[in-house]
Amino acid sequence: MKEYRIAVVAGDGIGPEVMAECKKVLDAAASIDGSFRFAFTDFPWGCEYYLKNGQMMPEDGIEILSKYDAILLGAVGYPGVPDNISLRDLLIRIRHDFDQYINLRPVKLLKGAQCPLKDVKEEEINMTFIRENTEGEYSGQGAWLYKGQPGEVVIQDSVFSRKGTERVIRYAYELARKEHKTLTSVSKANALNYSMVFWDSIFKEVGEEYPDVRTYSLLVDAASMFMVKDPSRFQIVVTSNLFGDILTDLGAAIAGGMGLAAGANLNPERKFPSMFEPIHGSAPDIAGQQIANPLAAIWSASQLLDFFGYEDLGRKILDTMEVMLTEHREKLTPDQGGTAKTSECGDAFVELLRK
Ligand code: IPM
Ligand code: MG
Repeated sequence: MKEYRIAVVAGDGIGPEVMAECKKVLDAAASIDGSFRFAFTDFPWGCEYYLKNGQMMPEDGIEILSKYDAILLGAVGYPGVPDNISLRDLLIRIRHDFDQYINLRPVKLLKGAQCPLKDVKEEEINMTFIRENTEGEYSGQGAWLYKGQPGEVVIQDSVFSRKGTERVIRYAYELARKEHKTLTSVSKANALNYSMVFWDSIFKEVGEEYPDVRTYSLLVDAASMFMVKDPSRFQIVVTSNLFGDILTDLGAAIAGGMGLAAGANLNPERKFPSMFEPIHGSAPDIAGQQIANPLAAIWSASQLLDFFGYEDLGRKILDTMEVMLTEHREKLTPDQGGTAKTSECGDAFVELLRK
């Protein structure tokens, strides 16, 4: 039987609680299929580990993870450890070192999910964000000069390489072609006169190879406005690291909230493991109470199944989520108006999935 070895970095706050449900669902999906199984290995890395060991993961953490077929990440960040350390040394480090240059984030309004926009139908919010995930505004380069002095200066560099820009844009074109969808590039060339002028020119250049794909180019401020006022105009969206970060939180807000938002960090060449995560963060204020919503983590399980070629199972998970959101609302967690504990929500999910 085929076995997939999965590294689980549940991380901080509500990470461990939601990851437990994600694993349950993956095990159930594998047993429904019958031709493969998952072998999970848990790694206790994160902020607690940092407070004990002075680092977010061991020195050879990346090497350890490289042996796995995929990584599941729960959440990173906890009071007591500065966010710029915890996130850069774990989440962003993994994205970067494993060249997970595609951050694929569905912004899809499921049946039964709560949408704060007026008079919007499910089919009107159905986008796939392709966020550049290894460079851009997240390059981590810059300088802090004359620190603490009156003449203090900080410089935060954005890095857009031709290779890095081309490959993410090409991926988006390929996806748009495959799914017969439109492709919108989001940038900001009217103000960012190097990086975004470059981005736009690459978008045009690569587009010449895809005459069949209908494209749009929007400025990021206008794109934010349209996501609220007219979300149906977006299908596949490609954008830079920071713009993608911001727009996908907005996307989550219009598509059921952070409790339903998942993201896949992909190394499409499969040279390195890809990583799947709910994007809600560690929510320390509600950690350990079994009230965290596991559905975002479960959605990331569906993305993992898609990535391994089990799209039917991935689809089945989303269908099941719709069944829960419409017919079994009491089995949801309190944030979704239900009364279930995190683990009860996961158990109910698995039961429905098996039906
Ligand atoms: C996300 C998160 C991260 C990011 C943070 C936690 C560093 O907001 O995955 O969207 O900005 O990429
Ligand atoms: Mg974010």
